Formats: sequence, C-alpha cells, structure tokens
Amino acid sequence: MALYDRIAGFYDPWSRSVVEDVEFYVDHALASDGPVVELAVGTGRIAVPIAQAGVRVIGVDSSPGMLAVARSAADDAGVSDLVDLRVGDLREPPVSERVPLVICPFRSLLHMTTEDEKLRALRAAHGLLEPGGRFVFDVFSPSREDIEETDGRWLEREPGIFERADWDESSRTLSLSVRSGEIVETFELHWLSLPEWLRLLDEAGLGVDALYGWFDLRPHVDEEDLIFVTRRRG
Ligand SMILES: C[S@@+](CC[C@H](N)C(=O)[O-])C[C@H]1O[C@@H](n2cnc3c(N)ncnc32)[C@H](O)[C@@H]1O
Repeated sequence: MALYDRIAGFYDPWSRSVVEDVEFYVDHALASDGPVVELAVGTGRIAVPIAQAGVRVIGVDSSPGMLAVARSAADDAGVSDLVDLRVGDLREPPVSERVPLVICPFRSLLHMTTEDEKLRALRAAHGLLEPGGRFVFDVFSPSREDIEETDGRWLEREPGIFERADWDESSRTLSLSVRSGEIVETFELHWLSLPEWLRLLDEAGLGVDALYGWFDLRPHVDEEDLIFVTRRRG
C-alpha cells in the first residue's frame, strides 16, 4: 500500500481549508498555456481547477488511492478529458512529454527524505521542462515559534479529523499524524533552509525567477513558507 492510500478517503475533508494556493497555481497554468505536469497530484485539489480553467494537466502520484479520488473529482467537474493521471514516482515521472510548466504544490517535495532525493526530484522536474519552462513549488522551513505553537498536540483540524505535529529540530523532520475514526497515518516531512534549497536548485539547473513568502505574492522575508518560481536554464 502506498503512502497516502489509507487516508485518500478523507484527504479532501482534511485539507478543506487549504484554498489559498489554488488561484496562484491556476494563474501560472493559464500563463504557461499548458500542458502542465503536476508532480504529487494527490486528489486533484489543484489539478482539477487548472483543468476547469481550460488547461491540460498530466498528474503523477505514487498513491493509486489518491489518484482514484482525483479521477472521480475530474469526472464530477466534467474535465476528465483534460486530466491525465499516472501512477508513478515524482523522482522518475512516467512522462515523455516536455511542457512549459511543472508544479509541485503543498509541500510535497518535503516527502523526499534526503538532500540527494530532493535533488533527484528537482532534476526530474527540470527534465520535463521545455527550454525556458518553469518549475513552481512550495515548501516550508519552520521558525522556533511555529514549532512551539503545535508541537506534540492533537488538534481537531476539521470536524472528526485530528492532526498532530511532532517536530524534531535536530533532524529537521516533522512527523505529521492524522486521525479519523479508526484510521491513523503518520507522514514524515523533511525541511531545508533557504540557502540549501538555493544550492540544490542551482545544481539541478533551475534559476530562481521569484521567491514568495505567501500566495498573495508578498516577497519572502522570514516567513515559514517558501514559494519558488524557477526557470529551466539552458
Ligand atoms: C500533501 S499531498 C499533496 C497533493 C496535492 N498536490 C495537493 O496539493 O493537494 C502529497 C502527495 O504526494 C504524494 N507523494 C508522496 N511521495 C511521492 C513520490 N515519491 N512520488 C509521487 N508522489 C508522491 C502522495 O501520494 C500525496 O498524494
């Protein structure tokens, strides 16, 4: 069973309040003219609105359960013909097409455990891009206050859906647990500092066009969130 399969049935209710990034990614998709590759497409939270805006999306995810939910969301929205969903690993995406835009929303790159794995993922994104194409993604790098606010406490994130964050600053790992009824799942997210991201992007052949601190396009200063708009060099 792939990571996320067990929670595919309640991922959408769990992330119901996460809406701030949708317009940001849809705007990038429209500006690119598509097609767009979304790495770690999940349940189509971003891919379906992109298709509804008229842009073709190829979505890759390692969880068949998440993709089944995405397929049904695309059907319900009447955009199945614009959403092409493929089971696969984002480090070796099953995509032969070259596209003007690759995206990886909602911190999914932090599922890559090590710097080497993150670099593999960045190189994979680079390899999918047309010359000059863009790779847009968001991650986080928490402050001490962010950590202290949530560490080690079960919080009811949505009715009947509980979330707990266990932070390990020494290994820079967030163990994020989610519980609904009898189902409990824990994911690990591995963060990096801004200079480390900049070094990996450079090694992957991606230049930074913009770095935002939030989806309203405020420049990154010292926010937890890092929203990168990068461009394939060469
Ligand atoms: C936080 S969800 C994000 C889903 C979607 N992009 C969104 O914004 O709602 C993370 C997704 O990453 C996928 N994932 C984790 N590791 C992966 C990997 N190595 N290759 C492909 N998908 C992966 C999970 O299956 C899950 O659907």
